[in-house]
Amino acid sequence: MKKTSYILGIESSCDDTAAAVLRNDEVLSNCIANQKIHQSYGGVVPELASRAHQANIVPVVQQALSIANIDKKELSAIAYTRGPGLLGSLLVGSAFAKSLALSLNIPLIEVNHMQAHLLCHFIKSEDRPVPTFPFLGVTLSGGHTQLVLVESHFEMKEIGKTRDDAIGEAFDKCGKLMGLNYPAGPEIDRLAKLGNPDAFAFPIPKVEGFDVSYSGLKTAFINLVHKNSHKNPNFIDDNLNDLCASIQKTLVAVIMQKIIQAKEKYHLNRIVIGGGVAANSEIRKKLSRKAKENQWEVFLPPFQYTTDNAAMIGIVGYQKLINQQFGMMNQSVSARLSL
Ligand code: KG4
Ligand code: ZN
Repeated sequence: MKKTSYILGIESSCDDTAAAVLRNDEVLSNCIANQKIHQSYGGVVPELASRAHQANIVPVVQQALSIANIDKKELSAIAYTRGPGLLGSLLVGSAFAKSLALSLNIPLIEVNHMQAHLLCHFIKSEDRPVPTFPFLGVTLSGGHTQLVLVESHFEMKEIGKTRDDAIGEAFDKCGKLMGLNYPAGPEIDRLAKLGNPDAFAFPIPKVEGFDVSYSGLKTAFINLVHKNSHKNPNFIDDNLNDLCASIQKTLVAVIMQKIIQAKEKYHLNRIVIGGGVAANSEIRKKLSRKAKENQWEVFLPPFQYTTDNAAMIGIVGYQKLINQQFGMMNQSVSARLSL
């Protein structure tokens, strides 16, 4: 019989302080303290994020333990995000994880945030199968846009990435221009539902291989808005839904094109999506259509595991625990940790 382990996952790489408790591969609690303070700045302010993590980490961990109904003495291991992310934010989570692991005398496990976005699909669920290897992993977040060949839980090779802005960043920057709060991705998604995606046309950038570029598209969007706002000062308000639908359609088309190309080149029929932008309804629709019409095997994460969360850190912790891959107390965090 499988040994029962309790893993505490801690995530603090950007602006969400999150803690989760897993019993093996099953999530018992998944708690997040969102930092509203960044909304009025139009983006994450690193210094404010670190301070908010410091204020939130103890209550969030306590809440995760309490919802899971276990005492910290029952924990088998602590998994934390080592990177990539904001240095000050990562330091708060890692210092807390190290101190708690030391005081409880249990293993410390370091987790790569981008691996975790893909491995969240291995969280146990009654109604979803887990992916089998190999697969094409696609991480779509506020900081990253990556195409990854995944051979096993920990054998991942990046084959493409953004050369400038991440897809989530492009959503957020276009949203900021339209006066939407940070993070603007979910709001653009909501407003786009009532808009015409063909109202405004934007060029799809041509980039070699499996890399993508989003900064030119963002500039094209800014130019269109500025040009039209000169003629009509209410241009944004008058066209908000159409602007959202049109830019969303193009942002998604850019990555869909690369997914199709990579899938063909590497003869992979299994596509696994992760990251905050995996919540986007347009990308979900496009991929679900491919699954239905072209028999792709598509894995879309449940919404609670799309944006940053600690359950995904916990599941990687569990995989590493059973493989005895432990972290070291003197290992420092890494803002630019690669896969
Ligand atoms: O993975 P995540 O929580 O944080 C990072 O690791 O970056 O991703 C956050 C990003 C933000 O840019 C946010 O605007 C975007 O995910 N996002 C969305 C949606 N939900 C979150 N973008 C488009 N449509 C959504 N529904
Ligand atoms: Zn993330």
